[in-house]
Amino acid sequence: MTDSGMPTARLGTDGPEVGAQGLGCMGMSFGYGPSDAEASRATLERALELGVTLYDTADAYGAGENERFLAPFFQAHREEVVVATKFALSIPPDDPTRRIVRNDAPYIREAVEASLRRLDLDVIDLYYMHRRDANVPIEETVGVMADLVREGKVKHLGLSEVTGEELRAARTVHPIAAVQSEWSLFSRDIEAGVVPAARELGVALVPYSPLGRGFLTGSFANAEQDLTEGDFRRQQPRFTGENAAANAALLAPVRAVAEAHGATLGQIALAWVHQRAQVHGLPVIPIPGTRKPTRVAENTAATRIVLTDDELSSLEPIAEKVAGDRYADMTFTSAGRE
Ligand SMILES: NC(=O)c1ccc[n+]([C@@H]2O[C@H](COP(=O)([O-])OP(=O)(O)OC[C@H]3O[C@@H](n4cnc5c(N)ncnc54)[C@H](OP(=O)(O)O)[C@@H]3O)[C@@H](O)[C@H]2O)c1
Repeated sequence: MTDSGMPTARLGTDGPEVGAQGLGCMGMSFGYGPSDAEASRATLERALELGVTLYDTADAYGAGENERFLAPFFQAHREEVVVATKFALSIPPDDPTRRIVRNDAPYIREAVEASLRRLDLDVIDLYYMHRRDANVPIEETVGVMADLVREGKVKHLGLSEVTGEELRAARTVHPIAAVQSEWSLFSRDIEAGVVPAARELGVALVPYSPLGRGFLTGSFANAEQDLTEGDFRRQQPRFTGENAAANAALLAPVRAVAEAHGATLGQIALAWVHQRAQVHGLPVIPIPGTRKPTRVAENTAATRIVLTDDELSSLEPIAEKVAGDRYADMTFTSAGRE
């Protein structure tokens, strides 16, 4: 339990203990339309007051902009925060709109130095491989990451969007503190392979997009109609056209549970993710993303909601009815390699 009453969980077997809910910082600089820097800064401070200690960014979020934005906050609270960032999505110089997955040694070495510079830190607490380049054996990639630990540039290692088998192979090279993958009422692919492997190997699960990128809060129902030009979610198959209408209808049981608890839909979605820790027997530290102080308070309060067995049962059928993939291009995901 942190001073603010937030429960805690450990990142891997020898990683730090963190508040059981982290904060996703991506939207502060990238992906989800215009953001207000002042409100984002207030959100970071409010999160810390509420017991959030794990802060998630990546070099790819706004091509380094998100890391630069967060640097002053991390500087001001270095002893209290656990800084997680990622490498692997490289921007080709001839086309800044594209991303190429790179897991090779020269790229990783360049990427870590660039992240350390932008973050203005001597060491990154948790360094993730963001996406897997199937042309490079994962043992080789994790070997380079392990060298970074030995050199004192990073403290702990993480992997994002890997399969259970890839996690097992990685673990033969170096302990892995966390796997970050999409996990929510709408996205449960990882329960078949990654979650059992993580439990067996003592790896924490860090669910990203636990609010289904906001869709599970009911704050938008159709990305093309409700979100601004340039918002990444307008390209996601689940949030557009007929899929969006079908998926919005799936929120009915979430709404019913929310009413019973006097809670919001988002809080029920988060409580469900937090409860995966008991259901699957491993540390689960979701990182909902928000840029608003009131929402971070709402989201962290979800750590205090416990869903009954009947409520969990009513939410169980949702995921398999979801229409549309998580991404327009699924080859980037672990599901594309299962
Ligand atoms: N490893 C990966 O490949 C990967 C992929 C995607 C994301 N991530 C990480 O995971 C973090 C979280 O994922 P995410 O941001 O994609 O999705 P999310 O956490 O499921 O949802 C974020 C969206 O929900 C809205 N929201 C948050 N709290 C809310 C509330 N209480 N009521 C209504 N709306 C609310 C946010 O809007 P406001 O910001 O306006 O509040 C934002 O649009 C990211 O920030 C990033 O760090 C990692």
